[in-house]
Amino acid sequence: MTPLKPCVIWLTGYSGAGKSTIASALEQQLLTLGLEPKMLDGDVVRSNVSRDLSFNKKDRAENIRRVGDLAYQHLQAGHIVICAFISPFRHNRNLVRQKFNANDFIEVFVDTPLAMCEQRDVKGLYKKSRAGIIKDFTGIDSPYEKPLDAEIHLKISEHGSAEKSAEQVVNYLLNRISRQSSN
Ligand code: ADX
Repeated sequence: MTPLKPCVIWLTGYSGAGKSTIASALEQQLLTLGLEPKMLDGDVVRSNVSRDLSFNKKDRAENIRRVGDLAYQHLQAGHIVICAFISPFRHNRNLVRQKFNANDFIEVFVDTPLAMCEQRDVKGLYKKSRAGIIKDFTGIDSPYEKPLDAEIHLKISEHGSAEKSAEQVVNYLLNRISRQSSN
């Protein structure tokens, strides 16, 4: 069994950046290594635990706070936790980070250019936002604060794949073990 310790892998980026797809690829790769990762995904959490919340700043903060608590519980139970949330505000991401030991919270910036997310528009939400049908949409009429010091920066282009991005994360986790054991 691969000696990967429990940790939280926090994917942040625009809607349509590919966070969920990378998270699923990562989940698969960790399963293949014999681990039992837990996945928390924005679209899923917002259909259950956070279904009472909107997308204004206060409710996004509450959403991320709840997710942090769930991640903490899974980590305590010994799992690697994969979280995929826009989590657009640095302050809220940092509040989650503070719940964990240093090294146990790994922020992954899924850096897909906004123009590419809007062009893909998988869920048609950018179009709705531009038409004024939905409001407070990240990148359009609600801000996204890019991470300044994410542990992993995934620069996404049309040529990459979710599997390759997930591999970068797995490699980081494996290198982390050798870094820790050489300290
Ligand atoms: S977060 O800002 O609170 O972290 P979260 O990741 O949970 O957001 O949910 C984002 C998902 O909700 C998007 O991928 C999109 O499918 C949907 N969504 C609906 N309305 C909005 C909106 N106004 N802004 C961003 N995402 C929205």
